Amino acid sequence: MTRIAVIPGDGIGPEVMAEAMPLLAWVRTQGQEVEWEVFPFGADHFLKTGETLSDEAFVKLRDNFDAILFGAVGDPRVLDGRHAEEILLRLRRDLRLRVNHRPCAPMLDVHVPLKGVSAADIRLEVFRENTEGPYCLKGETDKEGAVDFAIHTREAVSALLRAAFQRAEKLRATLTLAHKANVLKHGHGLWMREFKTMQAEFPAVRATSMHADALLCALVQRPQDFGVIAADNYLGDLISDLLAAFQGGMGLAASANLATDQAFRCTGLFEPVHGSAPDLAGRCLANPAGMILSTALLFRHLGWQREALAVESAVLDALAKGAATQDLGGNLNTLEMGTALRGKLSI
Ligand code: NAD
Ligand code: IPM
Ligand code: MN
Repeated sequence: MTRIAVIPGDGIGPEVMAEAMPLLAWVRTQGQEVEWEVFPFGADHFLKTGETLSDEAFVKLRDNFDAILFGAVGDPRVLDGRHAEEILLRLRRDLRLRVNHRPCAPMLDVHVPLKGVSAADIRLEVFRENTEGPYCLKGETDKEGAVDFAIHTREAVSALLRAAFQRAEKLRATLTLAHKANVLKHGHGLWMREFKTMQAEFPAVRATSMHADALLCALVQRPQDFGVIAADNYLGDLISDLLAAFQGGMGLAASANLATDQAFRCTGLFEPVHGSAPDLAGRCLANPAGMILSTALLFRHLGWQREALAVESAVLDALAKGAATQDLGGNLNTLEMGTALRGKLSI
C-alpha cells in the first residue's frame, strides 16, 4: 500500500490542494493501492499550538509514508518565517531530498512571454541543490552588520550534479551549470571542481558552465539553446521562478523534491513552485494547475506513468480549450479551474 502524507499548509496552499485531492481518489479507481493522511502543519497550527513540526511528527512522515504532497507555507503573521523553516526546509534537509527538480515545458504558445518563442521551443529542467547553500540558515547579526553563511559539501554537490548529468544523458539534452565562482571562490569553486570531475564520467553529455548572471540573460534571449540547468540552492531558487514565467506564471509551475538515496521510506515531496500568495489567499482566485501538475510528478515518481500522463494531458486539454484563472487572463475561480483541469478525467 502506497501512503501519501498531505500537507496543505498556508494561504492558497489549502485552496489549490483541495483541487488536487480528487486525483488521489481517482488514481485508486485506476487500480493503484494508495491511502493518504492530511496533516495540519502550517501557520494556523503553529499559532494555535506552538508546534511547527515536532520530532515525533517528522519521524512519522519519514518512516510511515512514501511521499509528501505539499501546498505552500508562509504567513504574514509569522514574521520570521520560523514555521516555514521548521516544516518545509527541515523536510527537504532531514529527509535528504537533495534534488529539487523543476521542469519547464510550457503547454501553450500564448503562455510564453518571450518574443518569437513558441512553447515547443522550450524544454528546460532545473536541478537545484535542495539542502545547503545559504539555506543552512546560519549567520549572525549585530548593530554594525550581518553575516549569512553558505555551506557546500562535496556529498550534496556531487549528488545533485550526478542526478543532473544522468537526466541530461537520458534526455540527450545539454547540461549547464549556473555558478558565480568568480565571486564565491570557495563554495562555487567546489562546484566547479566537482563539475569537471563529473564531466569526465559522462563524456556523452554536452556540459558547460556559465556565470549565472550571463545565463539569465541568455535564457531570456535564446531558451532553445538550453536543456538541463544545474545550480546551487540559492541560484536554483531564482532560476526556477524565471522558468515559471516562461510557462505562463507562478500558477503553472510544478516541482519535485527527490531523495538521491533510499535512506528513508519517504523519498519525495511534491509541491508547486509558488508560495502561499497572501495577496490571493482566501479569495478563491489562485490557479491550481501547478499543484495538479505537481501531483502528476508524484504519480510518475511512484511509477504510475500512465496516470501521470493522463493528468498532464487533462491539464493541457483544459488550457487549450481556454480554461483560465485571472493570472492567465481568464475569469474562472479556483474551484471552476480545478473542475476544468480535471475535466478529461471525468472527476
Ligand atoms: P508567491 O509565489 O506566493 O507569490 C508570488 C506572486 O505570484 C504573487 O503575485 C501571487 O499572487 C502569484 N501567484 C502565486 N501562486 C499563484 C497561483 N497559484 N495562481 C495565481 N497566482 C499565483 O511568492 P511570494 O509572494 O514571494 O511569497 C509569499 C509567501 O510564500 C512567503 O511567505 C514566502 O516565503 C512563501 N513561499 C513559500 C513557498 C513554498 O511553500 N514552497 C514558495 C515560495 C514562497
Ligand atoms: C521555494 C520557496 C522556498 C525556497 C522558501 C519558501 C523558503 O521560495 O520553494 O522555491 O526558497 O526554497
Ligand atoms: Mn522559490
